[in-house]
Amino acid sequence: MSEKFLTLGIETSCDDSGVAILNNDEILCEFLSSQIKDHSKFGGVIPEFAARKHLENLLPLINTALKETKISGRELNLIAVTRGPGLMGSLIVGVQTAKALSQVWNVPLIGVNHLEGHLFAPLVDSKDLKPPFLSLIVSGGHTEIIKVEDFGKYELLGETRDDAAGEAYDKAAKILGLKYPGGPEIEKLSKSGDPKRFNFPVPLKNTDKIEFSFSGLKTALLWQVKKFQENNEEIPINDLCASFQRAVTESLIAKLNLAVKLTGINKISASGGVSANGNLRDALRTSKKFRAWLPEIKRCTDNAVMIAMAGKNEFDRGNYKNEEVIADPSLHQL
Ligand code: KG4
Ligand code: ZN
Repeated sequence: MSEKFLTLGIETSCDDSGVAILNNDEILCEFLSSQIKDHSKFGGVIPEFAARKHLENLLPLINTALKETKISGRELNLIAVTRGPGLMGSLIVGVQTAKALSQVWNVPLIGVNHLEGHLFAPLVDSKDLKPPFLSLIVSGGHTEIIKVEDFGKYELLGETRDDAAGEAYDKAAKILGLKYPGGPEIEKLSKSGDPKRFNFPVPLKNTDKIEFSFSGLKTALLWQVKKFQENNEEIPINDLCASFQRAVTESLIAKLNLAVKLTGINKISASGGVSANGNLRDALRTSKKFRAWLPEIKRCTDNAVMIAMAGKNEFDRGNYKNEEVIADPSLHQL
């Protein structure tokens, strides 16, 4: 049995305050305080409000986590906190809290790239996923395919030219008068819709570059809705949702196939909010071109377990430096 190594993970990059404690790779506890209800009434995340909510939620969550696991702060071996990318105010709450706790408890602190966190999410439950593999990160802010040569050795193969896939879902939902976040709403209505009724474009499907673009797709949806409105016709919302979802999934799968062809790597992991989408999950799981590893649904969206995992892995790779961790909202490349 491996020696005890306790990591406290903290995630506050957007609208979810997440806290988790791991012993090596084993999850001892995980908590998430989602702000979806708070932001939903505004149709999107309000950054200042999100930061204030993290301030209210974070310390009580950490307290609960320590109480529940009967661990004292000083027993921790590592604190891993998301340092970017994300919303400045939200990141600062997490980073400053982590810094203070690390000093008070005398525990090393490591800053984690949120994207590397997502990259680790599928590894939480699938210990058999080993590099090299290709990682599709599809969230509200990012859509990219990364070649994972080894942990810590990443190559960005391609990304979106404009909107991220999650952003496209959120904007499409807004056009259709649905709640934020849009992805789960569109998925729900798609279940009773016809995915072939509208021939929405599958963006950049046939280019020989690994790249995505979703803003044209959103515009195609908007024009379709306008057409129904102008003709005073009822909007076939379920069919629109299903057709939109089909186009997003097809575009992601097309570029994964291309990435497999170009790299010869046929192991795929997917993570980020959009990887919770059932249509995408089915397409990934039934592909004949690659084998896919997916996180549990609850770990597709932002959470602290993935941050703790990524932080511990960085620590093991010798990347801990005894220097100040600084929040960086535009931190991008891994
Ligand atoms: O990874 P995440 O929680 O936050 C970011 O780091 O951005 O992703 C949130 C995004 C939102 O845009 C949301 O609409 C989308 O993921 N999403 C989904 C689903 N669940 C969440 N998109 C499609 N289908 C879903 N079931
Ligand atoms: Zn995220």
